[in-house]
Amino acid sequence: MRVPLHIALIYGSARPGRLCDAVGAWTEAEIHRVGGFTTEIVDPRDALQDEGALRDALARADGFVVVTPEYNHSFAAPLKAVIDAADVEWGAKPVGFVSYGGLSGGLRAVEQLRLVFAELHVVGVSDSVALPDAWDRFDGAGRMTEPERPRRAMGRMLTRLRWWGEALKAARSAQVFTEAA
Ligand SMILES: Cc1cc2nc3c(=O)[nH]c(=O)nc-3n(C[C@H](O)[C@H](O)[C@H](O)COP(=O)(O)O)c2cc1C
Repeated sequence: MRVPLHIALIYGSARPGRLCDAVGAWTEAEIHRVGGFTTEIVDPRDALQDEGALRDALARADGFVVVTPEYNHSFAAPLKAVIDAADVEWGAKPVGFVSYGGLSGGLRAVEQLRLVFAELHVVGVSDSVALPDAWDRFDGAGRMTEPERPRRAMGRMLTRLRWWGEALKAARSAQVFTEAA
């Protein structure tokens, strides 16, 4: 049997009343519905209080899923603080994105995140999940009302994430991912 890939599910908002809780919970449920992954939530609300624990959580992960809103055509500052708190823990692992917002579905935040993660040797999965007008997509209980299309996008993203996650896990165990000389 395949060893599950361990995913750090990183929340991109720390705002009181954030929609990130609904999008993050949906994302985690979808990851488990697809199967073959274990998950651990990294939430900037508490992760930034204990940098050592944050770095350990990222080091344990075989890959990352970032759930991000779009703030002023970019991602939110607490997510940047999480990213900047670690270094080698990120390297040679893949990241998939679940984004949300208005018209753009958070894609402008994702494009900027791809640049940031490239600096940390994180492979950005091209297929992503974008939720335009995200606030209309969840009912009062936080359930997604029309999940079919986002679910298909999630399936594509997770298929790629698994490929990269397994390939890079094998590569890291065959050869340490070192600093360039
Ligand atoms: C400071 C701020 C800036 C925002 N800028 C954008 C934006 O540029 N594009 C967009 O689609 N939505 C924008 N929004 C709307 C957010 O996508 C929406 O409020 C979303 O719920 C934020 O995620 P959160 O509730 O998890 O914090 C902005 C919201 C805030 C608070």
